[in-house]
Order: sequence, then structure tokens, then C-alpha cells
Amino acid sequence: MKVEVTKTQFNAVKTEVLIVGTYKHPENTKEWSEFVSFYGASLEKWVKSGDVSTERKKITKLPTLQDGKLQRILFVGLGDRKSLSQDELRDIFGNVGKELVASKTTNISIWLDSFINEEIEIEDATYLAAEGIGMGLYEVPNYKTSSNATDYYLDFVELLTTSDEHATLASYEVGQMYAEAVNEARSLVNMPSNVLTATKMAEYARELAETYAFEYEELGKAEMEELGMGAILAVNQGSTEEPRLMVIKYRANDEWNDVVGLVGKGITYDTGGYSIKPKDGLVGMKGDMGGAAAVLGAMRIIGETQPNKNVIAVIASTDNMISGNAFKPDDVITSFSGKTIEILNTDAEGRLVLADSVTYAKQQGANYIVDVATLTGGVIVALGKDKTGALTNDDSFFNTFMDASIETGEFVWRLPLTEKDKKRIRKSDVADLNNSPGRDGHMIFGGGFVGEFVGDTPWIHLDIAGTSEASAAHDLGPKGGTGAMVRSLAILVERMSMMEKEE
Ligand code: BES
Ligand code: MN
Ligand code: ZN
Repeated sequence: MKVEVTKTQFNAVKTEVLIVGTYKHPENTKEWSEFVSFYGASLEKWVKSGDVSTERKKITKLPTLQDGKLQRILFVGLGDRKSLSQDELRDIFGNVGKELVASKTTNISIWLDSFINEEIEIEDATYLAAEGIGMGLYEVPNYKTSSNATDYYLDFVELLTTSDEHATLASYEVGQMYAEAVNEARSLVNMPSNVLTATKMAEYARELAETYAFEYEELGKAEMEELGMGAILAVNQGSTEEPRLMVIKYRANDEWNDVVGLVGKGITYDTGGYSIKPKDGLVGMKGDMGGAAAVLGAMRIIGETQPNKNVIAVIASTDNMISGNAFKPDDVITSFSGKTIEILNTDAEGRLVLADSVTYAKQQGANYIVDVATLTGGVIVALGKDKTGALTNDDSFFNTFMDASIETGEFVWRLPLTEKDKKRIRKSDVADLNNSPGRDGHMIFGGGFVGEFVGDTPWIHLDIAGTSEASAAHDLGPKGGTGAMVRSLAILVERMSMMEKEE
């Protein structure tokens, strides 16, 4: 896709479609009178009558009457100028993206300056346009043989602004890159588990590492056995597919002594094992690798932006299946850390693979850890499908992450993890820990279990069971994988990199 920046000049627009931000009082938009004299004086009347809607998120498509390349205007309603937030503008551009797909529009011009207000500067509007449209354009890949939909691409974007050409182009490209990373993660989540096996995911991770010259290491079953990764191996026991542990290292500098670890749950399919899920609970469990997808998406952004912060990504992948070899409730297993675990529920498998992954990340030098996982149905009960649940053992690290998530508009809410909760995780007649203390507040037990392997290392647990997949189309994309936490993780690393510079 080509992006070009030109000085705002309405009679020289290079494409057929111009996208215009339309506030409730558009006459206060700089250059609006120039636009009216270009488009036609009736516009003012149509805005007043509502034929051109200024209602937030409403899009009015109207033809032009002038000769020239430009054929139609997309008037994008922005509502009250004072109250429009960056998050809303991202969503609005998401809807523009969806409109472009629906109408198969391949070339567009965006009048960027028409979207700004006191809070949203031109660089913000530019970035949000790229990110929002980029995410809105996403379509779920399908396997329909009858599909006559030709592949749609946005080919060309012309950016109209009075602002600096290079700065505008740079902002747009960053926004676009973030959207692409999100969309990649979405596609991983949307892939069926017979296509995206642990081996396939590892191939993807290896290619990603090659693209960005990351260090890459991959552990298979034999290596895990040698190291004693009893928790991952227990989950994999019932499977005919080999497990994989993917390890990606991004070295920001020569010293490997300050490292943030991003740990993702990569269960390619979760049947629940012998604690089998009811049939309705199985559908959708191809998406139980949303945490892995988030980490891979964030690593793509890190590869592009090259922040000044060492990062290690650790992803454990396997499916959770049933067979004569499968692990069972009542089994006692020994994790990589040496801690023993009484299995009470084979459906609490995510925390098991995360336990060994976290131990490995720490062994490899991580002194900050964020784990991301579709871990519990409990988080959905607690917070709904639009909020990621969090636990932490470090307020200041968590605050840094919260700032990142506020910037990206990804809603995160912290739940408590008390000493009493920890006691229940440590309660077992036969082992150090049990993997399922109960269903009361079980989001906390899921994350808290992972915390047992983290120790004192500053840590954030993110339960994305609700947010990783959308059950219906939304402003920024279709039903299915959302790419949740891709952007927040990347911005977290970016912010940690800035803090390092300040020190
Ligand atoms: N992968 C599931 C959690 C999940 C549920 C993700 C719904 C997405 C949508 C996880 O492995 C699981 O089965 N969790 C159990 C934990 C329980 C056994 C303590 C759950 O949530 O019921
Ligand atoms: Mn499960
Ligand atoms: Zn699971």
C-alpha cells in the first residue's frame, strides 16, 4: 500500500473518495469554508437539516458534482467537538475501515485536519486514522470453496494536511504497522487447531524471529523431558501432536541484565482433558492461544520499532486432549521449577503450561514478567467480554502498564490476590500446590497459581479469556480474534524503554 502526503487542496484530490471529519459545528473546522466553496454551498443547508449527519459514528456518503477525479465524499460524523476522545476517534476510523471493505474502495484521500480538536492533535489524528482504519479493514480468513469474494486491499492513501509531510507520513506508518500486528494476531486466533498446531505456531515464531533478526530457540518434547518440564508435558500427554516451547530474545543492547519477559499461553485446542468441557464449551477453544498471539503480535511491533529494552518472549504450545496417555485428576506432577502440583482439574491446564514458561523466562534472565492468557471463564463472569482482568505483585510496574493500556484504549481492570487466596492454591495433602482450588473467584486462583512460579519478580498477569475474541462485530473489527493486548504490551515495552533512557 502506498501513502502520500499532500497539502490540502480540494480541487486536486488524487482519488475518488475523500474522507471528511464532520463535527456538530463544522464551520469551526479550519478550512471548512474552502471546503464548502469547493463542494457546494448546499452543504451548509444539508448539515443543518441532518442530510449530512454530524452524529458521532454516522457516515454519510454523497457524490460530488464537480468534474475531476473525486467522485464522492464520506462525511464522518464526529459529534460535539469538545467531547470527542482519542478512543472514540479510533473507533470511528474503525468504522470507516469497515465501510471501505464493504464498498471495496481501494483508493482514498483523508482530510486529516478535519478530525482534530483541543485534545487530539494532528499527529494523534493521523496515527489513529491509520490504526483504526487498519484494524477496521480486517477480514477473517476463511476456507469457503464457493467464496467469490476477491481479495480486497486498500492500495493507496492520500493524506491531506497543512502539517509537516514527514511527521505525518511517520505517524501514519506507525499506526498502520500497529494495526497489521494486531491483525496478524487475530488471524492466528482465528485459525482452526487442525491447521495451527504447536509445530505450526513454532514455524510462525521462527519466521518472525528471522524477519527481525531476533534470537530464537525452540524446545520440543525431548528437550522438555530432559529439562523436566513436567507441567507442560502433563498437559501434552494425551496428544498426538508434539508440544513446543518458543523462546524469542530481542537484545536492545550488549548487556542482558535488565529483561522484560512476555509469556503467552498457546493452547491450540482445549478440550478440558478428562475434566472434559460440555459440548457447548468446546466450540471456540481453537482460540485458547490468544495469549501466544498477543505476545507474537507485540514482538512484531518491537521488531519494527526497536525499543531500548531487552525482551524475552516465551510461549508454550500444545493442545489439551484425551487419550489413554492423558493426565488425570489426582495425578501429581513435578514442574520445571521443582514444585509439585496435585491435579484436581485437567481443564485448568493453562496455568500449568504458564508455570513452566515463567520458570524458563526467569532462568533466561527475565526480571520483569507479564503473562497473557485466555485463562479462565471466571474473568468473563467478573468483568464481561470487553475488559481484561489483571493481577500483579508490583504497583509501580502495574501503573506503567495501566498507562500503556489507557493509551491503546484496551480496558484493563485489576483484581486482588490475597494471602488467603495463596493459601488455597498451596493447599494439598500430597503436593506443594493444587491446580484448582474452587470456582469461587477462580480468575484469581488461575493467575495466582502462575504467581507461585514468579516469586518476587515484578509481575503482571493478564486474563484475556473475555477480550481475546469478540462474539459479534465491533467498531474495530469483525467477530472472532481481536488481537487483544498486542498494542498494550508493545507500548509497555516502549514506555519501559523510555524510563531506562531517563535513568
Ligand atoms: N481455556 C479455558 C478458559 C476459557 C474459557 C477461555 C472460556 C475462553 C473462553 C481454561 O483453560 C479453562 O478451562 N478454565 C477453567 C478453569 C477451571 C477448571 C478452574 C474455567 O474457566 O472453567
Ligand atoms: Mn481449560
Ligand atoms: Zn484453556
